[in-house]
Amino acid sequence: MCGIAGYLGPKTADSVLIVALERLKYRGYDSAGMAVMSEGEIHLRKAAGKLKHLADKLEAQPLSGHCGIAHTRWATHGPPTEANSHPHLSTDGRVAVVHNGIIENHEPLRRALKDQGGIFVSETDTEVIPQLISTLYRAGGDPLAAVRAAVARLEGSFAFAVVFADQPRRIIAVRQGSPLIIGKGKAYDPAEPNREGRTEVFTKGGSTAARELMIASDAPALLPHAQQVCFLEDGHLADLSDAGVAISTFAGVPVEAKFKPIEVTAEAVSKGSFDSFMAKEIAEQPTVLARLLESRLRTGASGVEIVEPDLGLDLKAVNHVVFLAAGTSWHAALLGKRFLEQLARIHVEVDISSEYRYRNPVASGGTLVVAISQSGETADTLAGLRLARAKFIPVVALVNVVTSTIARESNGVMPLLAGPEIGVASTKAYTAQVLALYLFALQVAKAKGLLTPEAEQQAIAAARALPEQVAATLRETEEEVCEAADLFASAQATVFLGRGGEHPTALEGALKLKEIAYVHAIGYPAGEFKHGPIALVTSHLPVVCMVPKDAMYEKMLSNLQEVRARSGRIITVGQKDDQHLRDLSDHLFGVRQAHDDLLQPILSVLPLQRYAYHVARRRDCDVDQPRNLAKSVTVE
Ligand code: AGP
Ligand code: GLU
Repeated sequence: MCGIAGYLGPKTADSVLIVALERLKYRGYDSAGMAVMSEGEIHLRKAAGKLKHLADKLEAQPLSGHCGIAHTRWATHGPPTEANSHPHLSTDGRVAVVHNGIIENHEPLRRALKDQGGIFVSETDTEVIPQLISTLYRAGGDPLAAVRAAVARLEGSFAFAVVFADQPRRIIAVRQGSPLIIGKGKAYDPAEPNREGRTEVFTKGGSTAARELMIASDAPALLPHAQQVCFLEDGHLADLSDAGVAISTFAGVPVEAKFKPIEVTAEAVSKGSFDSFMAKEIAEQPTVLARLLESRLRTGASGVEIVEPDLGLDLKAVNHVVFLAAGTSWHAALLGKRFLEQLARIHVEVDISSEYRYRNPVASGGTLVVAISQSGETADTLAGLRLARAKFIPVVALVNVVTSTIARESNGVMPLLAGPEIGVASTKAYTAQVLALYLFALQVAKAKGLLTPEAEQQAIAAARALPEQVAATLRETEEEVCEAADLFASAQATVFLGRGGEHPTALEGALKLKEIAYVHAIGYPAGEFKHGPIALVTSHLPVVCMVPKDAMYEKMLSNLQEVRARSGRIITVGQKDDQHLRDLSDHLFGVRQAHDDLLQPILSVLPLQRYAYHVARRRDCDVDQPRNLAKSVTVE
């Protein structure tokens, strides 16, 4: 959600920043802009809509200068117009700000600043920040002091970066609730008169050498320039200049800047030969699952066994688990409940983060909260985590981005190791979450003495078979999926039905179709369908029924017959050699059968991911950046 970028170094800032914005796009945005410093002035370019519009403007009117800030906006206050896009300026044009988050007290601040002569030109909450900083700067003359004094008056959750026209090689970055990362690149000589070049001005270091510096909401945006990164903490601000990076608290106490090597690679954040990140990430699933699994297995004296990252917890004492998650991660949590109940026989609740945080949840001594989040930055899940910790409940994070805020604020971390997920629609992170939860449930069962060595070996074998089964399922279902997408791409609505472990699959299939193909879709427990939604069935309604050969098979066949009897169009997901099911279906997406029924949802969801992708393509939708959505939802 929204992206901030900033650059200070020898390269032309606009060329660095436009690439950074390109890499931030996936977070979700509706307009973009940039401010670059040159000749004692701040020069702006902004455009509503796609980043291409901003890139076109920059091509027509490039910005010269080597220090600047940039932004992709996901509107909260005011529509996505050029005037509302960031950076925003102070009335005198001498201070510019890009901002992520919400300034909750923007109305009283705006009134007060207007009374002092401030002229506002946008409808955003953000505009109060440059106005306020400018007022304080003019009164005191110290940029850092002005930023600190401004921050003390802002309420809400934010990250922002500010530049001053008369401080041409300086960026001040502030974090209070939204992520911000600082990147450090190669050494160069800041006194070098020709800064127009790109790499040729770099020196080999030495006392006169500065390092090129960047800021961004997300690590991929720092590539390929940054080699080291430092994660700014809430309540801290960073002062970037040719002298380096100085971090301090809002109160002015210096903080050591801890840099470490950047882990993400340029290859991991490129589409490669695929037409979209979503297609690439779906195809990566066999590799992702294999990597995750092997990281959790160890060969000991008695053979291969499951090990989890050390969570610093006595799992034997856990008798109540609360999962906190949103969206697709919440669907994974529903499966986590099944795994823990079935394997470890403990009481599990699954909470939508935005609901949990406003309840007054009950916890006992044996309660463990597990926060599930691909990005690790989802504001609602983070708030739930903080609420749990305030009640002294231990929190374990199941995250893909291990450097994220949720990971850093949890007592223990289970990494997904899925690699960067760029497509807004979560695919590889979902199947990795499900496998990770299965392994976690086995670990809890083992700690409680409920997992026999034989059962552990069977579970490992079933999990080890998955990568190959996933690859085969993706390959073998593709043709049927394309045919069904051809037929139903123009359907106005689609229903997904499943029971047991396939109920979350039905929810996930419906969410994928809604978010990337803009088709109204609902996922429903199949047994509940007759209690209302069955009224929707007509000969125009595709109904996707999840019918694996498990304990619910016969029940699902009855539900399918109920739809058939009302002329609904039937797509089934079931075993590929199930001839009876094929005869009852208009289309069968034939998947492989998992060696443990609990793992079947990992295989069943695959054709639904591809179905949503193909329907979206046929409807000319942008599968990677669906409208209105953000990859990392950092506001409430
Ligand atoms: C997934 O396809 C969605 N875009 C969305 O529901 C997502 O799963 C949700 O916002 C939670 O994100 P998180 O896993 O990063 O916390
Ligand atoms: N609240 C600000 C706005 O609406 C920032 C939104 C964002 O994070 O992009 O402009």
